[in-house]
Amino acid sequence: MEIDLLPWASLAVRWLHLIAGIAWIGSSFYFVWLDNSLRPEPGEPDEGVAGGLWAVHGGGFYHKKKYLIAPKNLPSELHWFKWEAYVTWLSGIGLLILIYYWQADLYLIDPSRMKMSQLAATGLGLGFLSIGWLFYDGICRLSAKSGNMVSGLLWFGFLVGSTYALTRVFSDRGAFLHVGAMIGTAMVANVFVVIIPNQKKVVASMLAGETPAAYLGQMAKQRSVHNNYMTLPVLLIMISTHYPNLTGHPLNWLLLSLLCLSAVIIRHFFNLRHKDKVVYPMLIGGMAIFVATMVLAAATDGRSSRAAGSPEIAFSEVRQLIDTHCIACHSATPTHEAFFEPPMGVMLDERSEIERFALGIYDQVVVGKMMPLGNETEMTEAERQILANWIDQLSGAADD
Ligand code: HEC
Repeated sequence: MEIDLLPWASLAVRWLHLIAGIAWIGSSFYFVWLDNSLRPEPGEPDEGVAGGLWAVHGGGFYHKKKYLIAPKNLPSELHWFKWEAYVTWLSGIGLLILIYYWQADLYLIDPSRMKMSQLAATGLGLGFLSIGWLFYDGICRLSAKSGNMVSGLLWFGFLVGSTYALTRVFSDRGAFLHVGAMIGTAMVANVFVVIIPNQKKVVASMLAGETPAAYLGQMAKQRSVHNNYMTLPVLLIMISTHYPNLTGHPLNWLLLSLLCLSAVIIRHFFNLRHKDKVVYPMLIGGMAIFVATMVLAAATDGRSSRAAGSPEIAFSEVRQLIDTHCIACHSATPTHEAFFEPPMGVMLDERSEIERFALGIYDQVVVGKMMPLGNETEMTEAERQILANWIDQLSGAADD
């Protein structure tokens, strides 16, 4: 018996990442909604109560109150909400190492873009994460007085630039994942470096009967507001590897930036709505950017369909391409050192199998350029076009 540990480790860590991420983002969404939904309490509220809210959930009634200054008797047990964030980041870094750094040749490095060693790729990836945080933290500190908007816009601009740079040096999905990891790292570092320590200082000074310095709360609030807008882009990036039409597009950096912009605007609509300000043009604007991105993608994908009357592609040509670029992995008995079994059950030994997977092949090889994985065999554009033409021909034959 032989246990192939890597896929099991990847499954366990990915599962944990998802669970922790749901717990974190769920509680973060909940608190943003709660904060925006608090209303003045009727009657004589306790001293320092800024607002309250009644809710019903799971068969019980909940009464929340928000104190802006510490209540007279601060209970000894306070829930802090921090482990969700830390576990999300730790498991995320675990996945990054397991997949993109450990197997850099397959998932991170694209030799047709930039040849580099595993060590160089890992260093470059971690470099982006660190520099991203240093930049973001720096602008937040420098622009603390000018509010959230200036720092938010500068950070967005920095991320667009980084996305462009990353898509020049790494594989598409490696680049996308690093943008997500840059944002996620900033979000968790916000919790670890600013929000929690500042809250601790505030609680300590409240317990000492002093008025906490206002900047502590302001800084934490700025980071927390930013985090709220960063969640939707991060989630989009985490699922983006399933969408070769996005990751494999020649303008993928621009499409991703536009989609993230639309997410931020839609998020803003909901934040305002919680405060009873319903601004539909904002929602429509956000959705319009999504649609415009879709149209832009279609208009600029640069793929040409087979010109009418171009010569028929013989299957033998396809067979040869598959044998050169795919069969090491996608066979009943893979010869590639990294695979014991055909990945995702995709076997391309028989002609009937190649025909059955034709649309998947089109998606992976022509649209997304995710296959051959890591492009280790350096498949060229012209070769991809031959597969595209053959699949075109195949579906034409099916239509006739
Ligand atoms: C180095 C190994 C390797 C090579 C070479 C390779 N693949 Fe893959 N392929 C994979 C892995 C691993 C997956 C699983 C998904 C993933 O990790 O992206 C996959 C998934 C697929 C899928 C299914 C994708 C889905 O999401 O349903 C198709 C179709 C595919 N490959 C086609 C090809 C074709 C066509 C070639 C050759 C041009 C090729 N692959 C070359 C490793 C490889």
